[in-house]
Amino acid sequence: MENTDSHVTVHMAASLDGFIARKDGRVDWLETSDEFPGGDTMNPEFVEAFLKTIDCYVMGSRTYETALRFEAKGLGWSYGDKPTFVLSSRELPHIRDTVEFYSGDLAQFVNGRLRPAFRNIWFVGGSVVSAECLRLGLADELRYSILPILIGDGIPFFAKLDRDIALHLAEVKAYKSGMVELRYEVRGRRGELPNAT
Ligand SMILES: NC(=O)c1ccc[n+]([C@@H]2O[C@H](COP(=O)([O-])OP(=O)(O)OC[C@H]3O[C@@H](n4cnc5c(N)ncnc54)[C@H](OP(=O)(O)O)[C@@H]3O)[C@@H](O)[C@H]2O)c1
Repeated sequence: MENTDSHVTVHMAASLDGFIARKDGRVDWLETSDEFPGGDTMNPEFVEAFLKTIDCYVMGSRTYETALRFEAKGLGWSYGDKPTFVLSSRELPHIRDTVEFYSGDLAQFVNGRLRPAFRNIWFVGGSVVSAECLRLGLADELRYSILPILIGDGIPFFAKLDRDIALHLAEVKAYKSGMVELRYEVRGRRGELPNAT
């Protein structure tokens, strides 16, 4: 049974040419040194308060493996103490109690398991899982943070979709770091007619 209060967000950061990682999975380019004087500043208190509004995270196994590598290097775990669901058909290291693994039908998992239990559900990548979430019509919102860099090649923001996904631009924010954050609502969910043309 779907909780009508629940909200599914897909969020990722990408280069301006639309890649979320280099071909070998590296995300070293996420640290850029641009300066856009007219932009907003990321206020740490605001970020902390905002992260508190997220109730759980969902990610693909390759994104989890990147998170494990980050943690092994002493760079920390980005998902705090929030329940984190990792999609995988493989046996992966289980490094903390907040991590749970799932394998199977994504629509059944989101609508049957996550929506009844959590209000603010965040898909944090990667490309394969984000595309699957959108393709199945499970996402309400898409947040795309564009970094001021071109990397030429890599893992695309979305793995191939087999249909158009109509979006409504709801918010645009530019930051002093040169990052632009776009927030879109996914049209065609919640009874709205999809864009048929
Ligand atoms: N820039 C950013 O914001 C950002 C965000 C996230 C990730 N990344 C980067 O993106 C890369 C990973 O993205 P990706 O597209 O290659 O992979 P991904 O989406 O993280 O993981 C895909 C894998 O998840 C598993 N999976 C997906 N759906 C499943 C289901 N329903 N049931 C069971 N398993 C399922 C499958 O692997 P198995 O079954 O084989 O385990 C699949 O190959 C990493 O390099 C990461 O660092 C960047």
